[in-house]
Amino acid sequence: MIPDSPGPAARARALASRLEMQLAMDVGKFLRKYLRKTHRWLALPFAALIVTVLLARNSPFGSLVQQTEQVLLLIMALTGLYLFLLPWWTKWKRGRGGNEGRTG
Ligand code: HEM
Repeated sequence: MIPDSPGPAARARALASRLEMQLAMDVGKFLRKYLRKTHRWLALPFAALIVTVLLARNSPFGSLVQQTEQVLLLIMALTGLYLFLLPWWTKWKRGRGGNEGRTG
């Protein structure tokens, strides 16, 4: 007798679920890698911009430079907040049985 095997619908569901998990892991890896890189590499232009803001205070470019600084600071704050929350997020995921953030 042929043993019970999952039907095509069940197999499709299992495959979809595996693909969904894989996608979530890949997105997580992508964010971890590139948001840290973004934060790291924006540090240099941001530091230069602080000096520029001070130097350009009374020039016609003053407010433009200041606005640019504010936008960069917002990006730094958002990516920094992500980096700050990442350890808790990873622990929480592990606690739920996911394997996000595992390196080995
Ligand atoms: C505006 C709010 C900011 C927040 C909330 C923030 C937060 C963080 C956090 C949580 C980390 C990760 C620390 C760790 O490894 O555990 C980090 C790394 C770092 N931050 Fe920020 N940060 C901010 C702004 C800045 C600014 C203004 C600069 C420099 C101009 C900067 C430069 C860096 C650098 C170079 C790293 C190391 C990145 C790496 O590991 O490759 N951050 N920041």
